Amino acid sequence: MPTPIPTAYSRLQIRLHWLVFVLLALQYILHEPITEAFDMVEDGLTPAFSPLVAAHVFGGFLIFVLVAARIYIRKERGVPPLPETDPPLQRMAAHVTHYSLYTLMIAMPVSGAVAWFRGNEAAAEAHEVMRAILLALIALHVVGALYHQFVVKDGLMQRMRRGDPV
Ligand code: HEM
Ligand code: HEM
Repeated sequence: MPTPIPTAYSRLQIRLHWLVFVLLALQYILHEPITEAFDMVEDGLTPAFSPLVAAHVFGGFLIFVLVAARIYIRKERGVPPLPETDPPLQRMAAHVTHYSLYTLMIAMPVSGAVAWFRGNEAAAEAHEVMRAILLALIALHVVGALYHQFVVKDGLMQRMRRGDPV
């Protein structure tokens, strides 16, 4: 962790958080065309070009690049420490959730690319299993954020709203 430890996320970190959120939502909403195209590939057929399939592939690559940038900025600039008022077990759970989210946001595009460009069924299965785990972790993360906002009322959501200039 760099010194001094930041007291807030930077504006760039916050923009990246919400941009990746929107892109991930699109990946989940618009997955049907690539699922159908991949079924055709598995049956030995060649699917016709579809902009929605291309969007899934391109969107996934964009997520990979933006998440890699997030991890790099996190390492170089740091992030504000988790609220001191949280019990240690809760802080550990938050850390594990955040690291797992980063890992899956990198592993999803990689497994998707191996499945799509190499026609690899094991990678496609991994992609399917991980999309369910990622969704469950996102749900847990959102519940955690809402718990802070409405039960603990410690203003945690503000940390992902207004940031430091750098
Ligand atoms: C695709 C969905 C989402 C993903 C993958 C995601 C991922 C993450 C990650 C990895 C962090 C940790 C940042 C760090 O310290 O390095 C984070 C922080 C945060 N996220 Fe999300 N997030 C998502 C959606 C949301 C939503 C919908 C909300 C609001 C309801 C939210 C609220 C927050 C807040 C308040 C923090 C700061 C937590 C803290 O500083 O302790 N996130 N998010
Ligand atoms: C974070 C990025 C990504 C997310 C969140 C995501 C999400 C999804 C989801 C929800 C499905 C539907 C799975 C199902 O039918 O059960 C899917 C299928 C698929 N995705 Fe992705 N995807 C991502 C990146 C990519 C990339 C970059 C590629 C290719 C270069 C890709 C290729 C595929 C393929 C081939 C399928 C069909 C797999 C199958 O039916 O077994 N994905 N994706």
